[in-house]
Amino acid sequence: MERVLITGGAGCIGSVLAERLVSRGDRVRVLDNLSSGKSEHLAALADTPGFEFLEGDLLWPNSVKQAVQGVDMVYHLAANPDIKFSPGDPTDKDLQQNTIATHNLLEAMRLAKVKRLAFSSSSAVYGISEKLPVSEADPARPISLYGATKLSCEALIGAFQNLFGMECWIFRFANIVGNRVRAKGRTVIGDFIHKLQDNPAELEILGDGMQAKSYLHVDECVEAMLHAVEHARGGLRIFNLGCADNLSVRRIADLVALSMGLEGVRYRFTGGEGGWPGDVPRFQLDVRAIESTGWRALRNSEQAVTAAIHASLHGNGGVPCRP
Ligand SMILES: NC(=O)c1ccc[n+]([C@@H]2O[C@H](COP(=O)([O-])OP(=O)(O)OC[C@H]3O[C@@H](n4cnc5c(N)ncnc54)[C@H](O)[C@@H]3O)[C@@H](O)[C@H]2O)c1
Repeated sequence: MERVLITGGAGCIGSVLAERLVSRGDRVRVLDNLSSGKSEHLAALADTPGFEFLEGDLLWPNSVKQAVQGVDMVYHLAANPDIKFSPGDPTDKDLQQNTIATHNLLEAMRLAKVKRLAFSSSSAVYGISEKLPVSEADPARPISLYGATKLSCEALIGAFQNLFGMECWIFRFANIVGNRVRAKGRTVIGDFIHKLQDNPAELEILGDGMQAKSYLHVDECVEAMLHAVEHARGGLRIFNLGCADNLSVRRIADLVALSMGLEGVRYRFTGGEGGWPGDVPRFQLDVRAIESTGWRALRNSEQAVTAAIHASLHGNGGVPCRP
């Protein structure tokens, strides 16, 4: 039995992790400011002995100090989850929500002598890679503020790990899809479903539709993290987390239309390689490092996306987590 803190535990991925840890008998505390997470995600755990929800913010020193007290390990998932930068957005949002928030957490952990940290980084740290699939040893040259600040979090974690004798796991997630509802338009699957519900004859697709990315089901993402934390011990460990293939946006449109029973949908592409400024049009992860620990994704990208579409259309949850 471990005492675990999950930052961002009311989110799409954090809430699934919380359920999984509680089910195996851990004592779980969640710190979340409910900015994009929802307390409904944790409703099933609310009265469970050993589960505690703290509504608070990583940018508030007292919240962080209180959250780390008495825990053995932290899963740090809280972040600004929105990779898209829209004109008019403050350019320091990711800096605050990712970099500063992560520093606050690391410092609170140091002071409270909490030594183990798992962090949800992103494949966005790689930017546009010269070769695919991209491995953990390849250069990371992010092209979004989100990716840049995730990489800065990784660097801070590496420094704290080295200076203060911590044990840390960094997971560079593929696009995680699953069963929790997210706001309209923030995920490719959710976007397509909502647009086709509004107009079943035509679908606007951002970019040229050839963008291709790796997808992983949220249940498998959680299992992979737990597996690595148990089996890949010592120092600082960095893993790409995903499956080995990728899937095009156009194919996702086909899968959504098919699942909705629609035929002859006209696709209208907005054009350009990427869906938005800062989008990485194509990526594929080299997952040999995580596979060498004995974990392997059971579903490929298409199977993971199909399961997420099905769950969002036919119950069992809702629209997937953010790609
Ligand atoms: N979903 C994906 O496809 C994906 C891909 C790569 C990386 N990630 C990373 O995985 C993590 C979880 O993502 P998710 O999809 O579950 O997103 P999410 O938005 O559902 O979860 C993030 C949670 O963090 C909380 N939060 C944000 N800022 C906070 C703060 N300052 N203090 C306390 N809580 C705060 C939010 O309320 C939310 O519950 C994030 O770090 C995200 O960057 C996700």
